[in-house]
Amino acid sequence: MKILVTGCYGQLGNSLRIELENDPEIEAMYTDYDTLDITDRDAVGRCLAENKFDFVVNCAAYTAVDRAETDDLKAAALNTGAVGNLGEAAAKNGTKVIHISTDYVFSGQGCRPYDEKDEPYPQGIYGRTKLEGEGLLSSFCQDAMIIRTAWLYSQFGKNFVKTMMQLADTHDRLTVVCDQIGTPTFAGDLAKAIHTILRHDRWVPGIYHFTDEGVASWYDFSKAIFELAGKNVEVTPVPSSEYPTPAKRPFYSVLSKNKIKKTFGMEIPYWRDSLKRCIELLGEEKNFN
Ligand SMILES: NC(=O)c1ccc[n+]([C@@H]2O[C@H](COP(=O)([O-])OP(=O)(O)OC[C@H]3O[C@@H](n4cnc5c(N)ncnc54)[C@H](OP(=O)(O)O)[C@@H]3O)[C@@H](O)[C@H]2O)c1
Repeated sequence: MKILVTGCYGQLGNSLRIELENDPEIEAMYTDYDTLDITDRDAVGRCLAENKFDFVVNCAAYTAVDRAETDDLKAAALNTGAVGNLGEAAAKNGTKVIHISTDYVFSGQGCRPYDEKDEPYPQGIYGRTKLEGEGLLSSFCQDAMIIRTAWLYSQFGKNFVKTMMQLADTHDRLTVVCDQIGTPTFAGDLAKAIHTILRHDRWVPGIYHFTDEGVASWYDFSKAIFELAGKNVEVTPVPSSEYPTPAKRPFYSVLSKNKIKKTFGMEIPYWRDSLKRCIELLGEEKNFN
C-alpha cells in the first residue's frame, strides 16, 4: 500500500512515521512544506499524479489558534484551500484521503459529547477555516474520511505537556484554567487509529471523532502531568476570564467516539494511561524536536 503523509514534521506526522515504520505492507512518502507545500495546487496535482498513492493522510495544518485571529489569510490558505487541493488531486487519481480536523468546529456550549451529526458552529478563525476545509474536501472528493480530534500532545513539537514540564523547571506554583473541559489525546493513539483504518478491510468515508477516553479540565490535565512526572508544582485553578486569549476557547469540547469505535472495532486508551506513556518517552529521550 502506497501512502503520502503531509505535515510530517508536526506532532501527528512524526507520530504516524513511528507508528508505520515497522509495517512492511506500507510504503510511505513523508513530506512537509519544504518538500510538498500543500498550498501549491500544481505541486500537489503533480505529486499525486506521479505517485498514484492509495491514501493521502493530511497531517499538515495551521494550528496556531491565537495567531490565526490576525493571520486569517494564511490560516485559510492551509486549513481550507490546501485541503481542497488535496481533495481535487485525490479525486482525479482515485486516491483515498484521511484528513484531520478539530473540536474547534463546535461552539463548545454543549453539555454532552459532540457526535458527528451535531451542528458545527466555530467561534474563531482556526475553527472556521478547518470547517471550511472539511466542506471543500467533501465537495471535491467522495472518498474522504475526516477525523476530528482535540487537545493533541506528544513527545514532538510544542504542546501543553511539554510546556508544563518546562515550567516545572522554573516554577513551584502555577495557575491553570479549570472551566474548559475536553480530552487530552496522545498523538501516538491517533496515529495508531489511522494505522488501523489504513489496514482495515472496510473503508467507510465520512466524518469521525477520535480522542482518548475520559474527560478533564486543563487544571486536571496539569495536575496529572506533575503527578505522573514527579514534579512538585502547586497548581491553583482559575476561570478562563482570568486568562484572556485572542481566540475564544470552547468551554466544552468532549467528542463522542462511538462511531469510529463501532465502525473499525477500535479500543481507545484512557487519557491518563497514555499521558503516562508520553511522560516516560519524554524522560527517555531529551532530543525530541
Ligand atoms: N494540536 C492540537 O491540539 C490539535 C487539536 C485538534 C485538532 N488538531 C488537528 O490535528 C492535525 C495535526 O495537528 P498537529 O498538532 O500535529 O499539527 P502541527 O504539529 O502544527 O503540524 C503541522 C505541520 O504542518 C506543517 N505545514 C505548515 N505549512 C505547510 C504547508 N504549506 N505544506 C505542508 N505542510 C505544512 C507545519 O510546519 P510548521 O510547523 O513549520 O508550520 C507542521 O510541521 C491538524 O489537522 C490539526 O488541525 C490538532
